[in-house]
Amino acid sequence: MEELISKLHAVLGAANTVQEVEAIRVNFLGRNGSITLLFEKLKSLPNEEKKAYGAHINSVKQQAEKLISESLATVSEKELISKLNAAEAVDLSTPASVELGSFHPRSLVLKDLEEIFESMGFYVEDYSETVTDYDCFESLNIPAHHPARDMQDTFYLNNGQVLKTHTSAAQNHIMRKYGVPVKAIFPGRCFRAEATDAKHETTFYQMEGIMVDEGISISNLIYFMKTMLSEVFKTDIKVRLRPGFFPFVEPGFELDIACTICGGGGCQSCGNAGWLELCPCGMIHPAVLKEAGIDPEKYSGFAFGLGVDRLVMMRYKCKDIRDLNKGNLKFLSQFKGGA
Ligand code: DAH
Repeated sequence: MEELISKLHAVLGAANTVQEVEAIRVNFLGRNGSITLLFEKLKSLPNEEKKAYGAHINSVKQQAEKLISESLATVSEKELISKLNAAEAVDLSTPASVELGSFHPRSLVLKDLEEIFESMGFYVEDYSETVTDYDCFESLNIPAHHPARDMQDTFYLNNGQVLKTHTSAAQNHIMRKYGVPVKAIFPGRCFRAEATDAKHETTFYQMEGIMVDEGISISNLIYFMKTMLSEVFKTDIKVRLRPGFFPFVEPGFELDIACTICGGGGCQSCGNAGWLELCPCGMIHPAVLKEAGIDPEKYSGFAFGLGVDRLVMMRYKCKDIRDLNKGNLKFLSQFKGGA
């Protein structure tokens, strides 16, 4: 009987495929297999020999089963490896788990804003992130050493340009590009060298808008601001308009929104004010129109500088503006499928 086991050893050693091992199993343990046939002999033995013989062939059978299953494991692994190395290297039957990305909440808001203003006849314009001192300040009635520059400390580049501190920096270029009448929005990334908190960030998005034509007044400004906000929020929100000073508008306003995070009671996101400055605006200063080659005696216009990141905070109740720049997937995945 021991020869049977050594024979089994030998043939299994030569087997390379699952099929071959299976054939060997049938030869040894199948209905007419050489080990199975040993059990036939058991019947004809005298009773006193049966016990010892039975125990022996059972152990042979167990050894054989063990050898075969070990060999099966070895050859099936070998087969898999050779398949992976060859034509079936790509296993199309593997379940796919593709994580779909999502739009950044700022992109969702910008897309809505662009659609709203395009539907009202505004051009959507782009402008560089590095601008000249003239673009950023001089053309906007903010000469060198004007105190208003203190509010917009920025990053100065070796070539004399600055990282733009506000989207207003494109006003002059766009008024020159189209002349009058003109209706345009120009969203963009802005930079300021300043301390950060829940509502201030060194890198943030604004969206500037201008409309210049004959007879444009504050009522036009208020109409467009109201339309924009009701379209973006699709629900009633509380806003207030108060005087604000910016050298490039006269009169100038601060348009605040009642904080949607605390409902106006005051929280960290609104600096405990209950209100958040969302969209400063005003009537374009005659000096700014003149600088762009537009006759302020004949034409007037409004401008606004929407804080896009703050709008995102208010729309989605994001408590901290800095979350918009972190690239944290836990935060961003909340916006799957739009919102
Ligand atoms: N550019 C200003 C800032 O970032 C915001 C601003 C105020 C823009 C009034 C405007 C405006 O267009 O009319 O601080």
